[in-house]
Amino acid sequence: MKDLGWKDEYSVGISAVDFQHRRIFDCIISILGGPSDDDKLRVEAEVVRLLGLLQQHFALEESMMRKLCYPDMEKHIEEHRAFNADVHDLAQKSLRKKGGVSHEAIKLAHRWLTEHIMTSDRDYAAFFSNPMRKSRKMG
Ligand SMILES: [Fe+2]
Ligand SMILES: [Fe+2]
Repeated sequence: MKDLGWKDEYSVGISAVDFQHRRIFDCIISILGGPSDDDKLRVEAEVVRLLGLLQQHFALEESMMRKLCYPDMEKHIEEHRAFNADVHDLAQKSLRKKGGVSHEAIKLAHRWLTEHIMTSDRDYAAFFSNPMRKSRKMG
């Protein structure tokens, strides 16, 4: 389970973003810690919490991208939308099922998140820290 946690290599160099990413990873680990019949309610609550954390996180990233006129913003936002829809779908299916949350689906979400951070999130972070970004925008 520790393999699924936050790693330093996931850092994008923006502390507010790293903090939110960590919380999302912690939440995913907490979901995968269950469910036995006893903690089904806890896991369901954690899935709802995950949705809230994602919503908050995507809102932060998207508002930064807007402010800094990030050129790949639309593509990035579309990735967020697609993932958000998948997690909502997963949550609805999981909450309807008697057996609780699908660990396979949560692991897929974990993989998506890791890949997204290591590619798309890194791209905007590099753009934000690039002092030449204005010329990129103009170009
Ligand atoms: Fe992110
Ligand atoms: Fe993102």
